[in-house]
Amino acid sequence: MQDTPSKTSWRQRTRLVHGGTMRSQFGETSEAMFLTSGYVYQSAEEAEARFKGEDDGFIYSRFSNPTVGMFEQRMAELEGAEAAWATATGMAAVSSALLAMLKAGDHIVAAKALFGSCRYIAEEMLPRFGVSCTLVDGRDSNAWQAACRDNTKVFFLESPTNPNLQVTDLKAVADIAHKAGARLVVDNVFATPILQHPLELGADVVVYSATKHIDGQGRCLGGVILGSQSYIEEEVKPLLRHTGPAMSPFNAWVMLKSLETLDMRVREHARSGACVADHLAEQPGIENVLYPGRRDHPQHTLAMAQMEMGGNIVAFDVRGGKQAAFKFLNALQLVRISNNLGDAKSLITHPATTTHQRLSPEARAELGISDSCLRLSVGLEDAQDICADLAAAAQIAAR
Ligand SMILES: Cc1ncc(COP(=O)(O)O)c(C=O)c1O
Repeated sequence: MQDTPSKTSWRQRTRLVHGGTMRSQFGETSEAMFLTSGYVYQSAEEAEARFKGEDDGFIYSRFSNPTVGMFEQRMAELEGAEAAWATATGMAAVSSALLAMLKAGDHIVAAKALFGSCRYIAEEMLPRFGVSCTLVDGRDSNAWQAACRDNTKVFFLESPTNPNLQVTDLKAVADIAHKAGARLVVDNVFATPILQHPLELGADVVVYSATKHIDGQGRCLGGVILGSQSYIEEEVKPLLRHTGPAMSPFNAWVMLKSLETLDMRVREHARSGACVADHLAEQPGIENVLYPGRRDHPQHTLAMAQMEMGGNIVAFDVRGGKQAAFKFLNALQLVRISNNLGDAKSLITHPATTTHQRLSPEARAELGISDSCLRLSVGLEDAQDICADLAAAAQIAAR
């Protein structure tokens, strides 16, 4: 394999096409897909040297594979991270990023507003292993400060949050974490690596569900953890090498090809997101449209200071509670009902009965996830067609 090292002068879009490329002796243009679980050695001595770490060739695809390695390198270049580790899913990335840093007796502070499974990890799973957790209002920097204890090791948050787009001041919270001797882990899924750069704002670790915009076409599950070389090598690698939630080389290949178009796709998603949010806000029976790029978002100024554009997720309420929200969903013809997001296809979900159904009604109410709330992931269809579909559904729901 021959590396084609990225030039330091290359800009983001160039790196997204070429970053991390390694070519075999055949000189292929497109990245090769190495669907292999293991590797053969020329001699017993070579096998011994690889296992001792004296020879840096591949050993076993649970922890090293050329196609996965290309994806990791391209992601690290995109994020501006020293290193990356790809995982089987976004949840494998979230749980592993946290587990790699924590041990029994430690304390974590996490935002209350998290994707349902992320909240489960912080609130229910980590305490089972002796890691205590305090949940705070992520928008309130004083609450992060007040939650710190002597044994606080990690702050964990999403910004904007799933589903209703609360925004955290990343720089302020990173400063508080560091003063308390903790590290900040940011799940940057909603913002995407194109529109927000948490490491530049002080975060220590960034995680993604690559299942979302990074694949962007609803085909493959995947995740990635990004941070310093020492964190990935000394904390993440030992955990994942032995626990094994590895990204499949096939999925890494799909993701690599998707990265080539990520910048263009995400910006187009966001242009349509802004258009659709404005259109929704004008529809009778549609209330509380939340979109970070709109001036009426409660944290619009902060969101726009941290993000280049408002992204492609819009949350809103359909007047008339769950019944009206379901009527709206069932009337849609182009936008499809699905709990996934970041897809080329526009997708919509009712968080109270899907992604956040595990939370009690009180916990949902605290997060502003009402029975009339819907979360829309604006796709790459013509924005006018998306708007027309939503407007027709709003009319039916209002009847
Ligand atoms: C913010 C956020 N983090 C993590 C995940 C989990 O990703 P995956 O489904 O790839 O495990 C999701 C999935 O919806 C998400 O929205």
